[in-house]
Amino acid sequence: AIVSAKDMLLKARNEGYGVAQININNLEWIKAVLQTVEELKSPVILGVSEGAAKYMAGYKNVVEMVKNVHDFLGVTVPVAIHLDHGTYEGSFKALEAGFTSIMFDGSHYPFEENLAKTKEVVAACHAKGVSVEAEVGSIGGEEDGVIGAGELADPAECKIIAATGVDMFAAGIGNIHGKYPANWKGLSFDTLEEIQKVTNNIPLVLHGGTGIPGDQVKRAISLGVSKINVNTECQLAFAEETRKYIEAGKDLQSKGFDPRKLLAPGTDGIKRVVREKIELFGSANKA
Ligand code: G3H
Ligand code: ZN
Repeated sequence: AIVSAKDMLLKARNEGYGVAQININNLEWIKAVLQTVEELKSPVILGVSEGAAKYMAGYKNVVEMVKNVHDFLGVTVPVAIHLDHGTYEGSFKALEAGFTSIMFDGSHYPFEENLAKTKEVVAACHAKGVSVEAEVGSIGGEEDGVIGAGELADPAECKIIAATGVDMFAAGIGNIHGKYPANWKGLSFDTLEEIQKVTNNIPLVLHGGTGIPGDQVKRAISLGVSKINVNTECQLAFAEETRKYIEAGKDLQSKGFDPRKLLAPGTDGIKRVVREKIELFGSANKA
């Protein structure tokens, strides 16, 4: 079923596991993710950046594509369609188009402005039963043009934003979008612990899920992280499998150039990553 992210995250928070947000890019991504979560009986959040929505011909088309694939495959597990790192304007457009969950990322605004805009987005989304994610501090690195300095979140600011009624809360704790540099210091568990203490059991979100070692992910879950975002790792797997297929010359053999064959290994690569993440986060059989 296509639902908001609220209940699936509260259940994860109470039972001590994480739900994966897997970012999608096209039909192959949607099919790969939905098939895998249905097999594993896991809830999932489909992340859609504004750039990815544009690539997929707009928010309405994203919603229609996901709904149609969901119905076609007979998916029964909870699936949320979530705007990832939304702008203020984009948040309202995605809400209007039928997204069931919205991240308003106001982390680049001065704090008071982030707070005021988050409140507006919460009011509009909750009126439609749509869940909201806010962000304080910033995630390092770059994703689809969203660039973050990687500053650690201030727990006092987290407390105030959490009190706006947001359903989930992303805080910068040393996490970075994309591949982690060799000299990465790891997640700041001290910051995470402080944030957890002041945010009233709201499910916390860990961005930059690509390449965080499994033990750190598990420790983060034990400290209140209920949603982990993964994007780059699926893209790397898709690219690698596609390259292997072409380098082996398979596109030149018996109709191997047919996109249904050409894109199959990459799609299997996405499925493998999704399966690994769901097993690590502990959400299998939690639908
Ligand atoms: O918002 C999406 C995520 O934070 C993805 O991060 O590309 O490093 O996995 P990632
Ligand atoms: Zn992110």
